[in-house]
Amino acid sequence: MIWTILLFVLGIILFIIFSSKRSRSESEPPLDKGVIPWLGHALEFGRDAAKFVTRMKMKHGDIFTVQVAGRYVTVLLDPCSYNAVLEDPLSLDFTRYAQVLMDRIFSLQLPHHNPAVEKAMMKQQFSGKSLACLSSTMHQKLQCLLLQAQRARHNRTDWNTDRLFSFSYSLLFRAGYLTLFRGELNNNQTDPSDVYDEYRKFDNLLTKLARTTLKPEEKRTAQCVRQRLWELLAPAGLGEGSGASQWLRSYRHLLQEEGVDEETQRRAMLLQLWATQGNVGPAAFWLLAFLLTNPEAMKAVRREFSSISEQDSAQCPLLDRLHHTPVFDSALEEALRLTAAPFITREVVQPKTLHLADGKEYQLRRGDRLCLFPFISPQMDPEIHLEPQRFKYDRFLNQDGSAKTDFFKGGRRLKYYTMPWGAGTNGCVGKHFAIGSIRQFVYLVLFHLELELCDPEAQMPEVNTSRYGFGVLQPEGDLAIRYRFRHSH
Ligand code: HEM
Repeated sequence: MIWTILLFVLGIILFIIFSSKRSRSESEPPLDKGVIPWLGHALEFGRDAAKFVTRMKMKHGDIFTVQVAGRYVTVLLDPCSYNAVLEDPLSLDFTRYAQVLMDRIFSLQLPHHNPAVEKAMMKQQFSGKSLACLSSTMHQKLQCLLLQAQRARHNRTDWNTDRLFSFSYSLLFRAGYLTLFRGELNNNQTDPSDVYDEYRKFDNLLTKLARTTLKPEEKRTAQCVRQRLWELLAPAGLGEGSGASQWLRSYRHLLQEEGVDEETQRRAMLLQLWATQGNVGPAAFWLLAFLLTNPEAMKAVRREFSSISEQDSAQCPLLDRLHHTPVFDSALEEALRLTAAPFITREVVQPKTLHLADGKEYQLRRGDRLCLFPFISPQMDPEIHLEPQRFKYDRFLNQDGSAKTDFFKGGRRLKYYTMPWGAGTNGCVGKHFAIGSIRQFVYLVLFHLELELCDPEAQMPEVNTSRYGFGVLQPEGDLAIRYRFRHSH
């Protein structure tokens, strides 16, 4: 027995020594393995990736390779060179790392799944007439939920207190869930609030699931919560009568055709719930929080929405009028510039020469990962965006009120000056649905509610730094708000 243990320990030590042996060749990016063998920079990366990447950028420049838990990750921070990464899905593969995360977070493996077919289907369902139909359903659901909240009050003119993050996330999540997964609100099915409550518990463990750093107790909780969500989502998209969107029904049908068993289908439902709901609520929260703490911005957005609501509905329905909102669009883009912080990660599946915009070339090794972190640049880059820490609602507006798209770095006009939705072949398929949903949410909230901060001097909450890399950030703490329904509605 003792020999087995000793051999095992020796094996681990040899593995660590071997995997830490890598050295940099001249044609490769600067290599920083960190001081801890194998683990490398994993702890610092996980604690606050933005701080860590900024420190590495100061040390090595816009491209470097770091060791993170046995893997080598090359980080590229020059937005002028992002195209070289985003337009080469053959050498820089999106799917492999996505599958690793799928397994870790959702305990889901779909070995015979065809992501290209799934994506083509989703693209079709989230554009054109289908998108218009989904947006109209989303609008109805948001209105219904607000009305339901109003009816639940004994005295409808009283002020209610709440926290802005849970208020925004809960409302948008439930409306999105009803639109895409379920259909009706009152047909003896699961209460969307139950799904939301379970989902939030899952969401709180998401980064640890992805990094495989759950403590034993958290592991048990994660397993229970996932199990409960799989059960709640089990009927979603099954048959015409399920009330689910055409998209979900087609997706479920595709899984069935691929021979995916029932249990795995449920797990895939949770993956889709996360992909479609995980960022929209937090994004709406940040936008409302910035508006509430910047009266000038709130005034400008209100003014734009008021002029829309005053137009004649007989000539043009509200949802069509809500498409032309340059002030709102700029404010949302600015809120996302400050709070959308996904890693755009690709696996190097064949040796690749990366040509950067400054003329330099670097070799990438097969099996390494390549990571763009647009939050650092372009989004928070002071050369591109003056005073990048400040929320300026009109940053993406020209003087004449049109959308501003001219931003520069080192004299070059940038294709990517903010990247909350990713870009290229694997950019966000749900972007227009997400923007439309957030716009409707803010419009309806400002239209139906008097909404204000409990403390007029309250500051924006800090961000939860462990969530860098996982899409839209979430706050550490919240903003206390009070609201009441306007008399006329
Ligand atoms: C504020 C809300 C959202 C944000 C900030 C966001 C952001 C992103 C980002 C950054 C990516 C690219 C990931 C990468 O390149 O590695 C992405 C991909 C994706 N998003 Fe979104 N998303 C949002 C909402 C949605 C919604 C509502 C849907 C669906 C209705 C959706 C569906 C997808 C899908 C399917 C992909 C993967 C595309 C592929 O496989 O190539 N997203 N999203």
